[in-house]
Amino acid sequence: MLQVTHAKTAAMLDAMRDAASIAVGVLEMIGEHVVPGVTTEALDRRCHDWIVGHGGVPACVGYLGYRHATCISVNDVVCHGVPGSRLLKDGDLLNIDVVVQRDGLHADTSAMYVAGVPSIAAARLSRATQEALWLGILEVGGGKTLGDIGAVIQDHARRNGCSVVRDFCGHGIGTAMHEKPEVRHFGQRGTGERLMPGMTITIEPILNAGAREVRALADGWTVATRDRSLSAQWEHTVLVTTDGCEILTLRPSEAAAWKAFAASRRG
Ligand code: MF3
Ligand code: CO
Ligand code: CO
Repeated sequence: MLQVTHAKTAAMLDAMRDAASIAVGVLEMIGEHVVPGVTTEALDRRCHDWIVGHGGVPACVGYLGYRHATCISVNDVVCHGVPGSRLLKDGDLLNIDVVVQRDGLHADTSAMYVAGVPSIAAARLSRATQEALWLGILEVGGGKTLGDIGAVIQDHARRNGCSVVRDFCGHGIGTAMHEKPEVRHFGQRGTGERLMPGMTITIEPILNAGAREVRALADGWTVATRDRSLSAQWEHTVLVTTDGCEILTLRPSEAAAWKAFAASRRG
């Protein structure tokens, strides 16, 4: 039965909660270090050491040959930005994406940051993308479909004049970083696989200020917008429950804003 194949046991969920709390701690810790003049590799090193220092395993290290604890995607970089000697400058908009493994289970989450003062366009894109994630999360619950999540995200992007990148999806997560199902950020309500209580998935919409097409850079990892427009992404790992979900990677700093948003949308 589908439910059995996907459902996490209580022991697995305990480990995922531990992994998630470390991942949350990393994203909370790193904010104050995102300033003009810092390199992305210095930020990555801090994240790496913090994870290890808190008993986690930086799961991206060694994953398909990747060598860093985080992906750091700046401005027109869509995802999988490789930390390096790039110096952040005032107004840079960036995503930091981290995967922590603990007792064999994974948590995957990312957030947006700005070095210095954001442009109005950057602030708008980042906010629209976070709202798209939150709207997707509000669709999660036993009996809902993957299409319900995709449809609401796609609709929110369109209303905000943004495009949704289709080349990367959310995913099931557990003993592997990437498990089935594929969680698309576009689609039609009522279509696709049905969500079952006990499943754990990520939702991680990427919105571009311009067109949705992407290009791969020469390092073999970094993906950028084809038209050089700004890109933003937010990601959470969530546990499907009978009547909704639990955001395993909810950060204390966003909890109040999330609650207010959810209350206003649930009516
Ligand atoms: N964190 C990414 C995701 O959201 C995956 C990173 S791939 C790695 O799925 F190679 F960097 F690990
Ligand atoms: Co992910
Ligand atoms: Co991620």
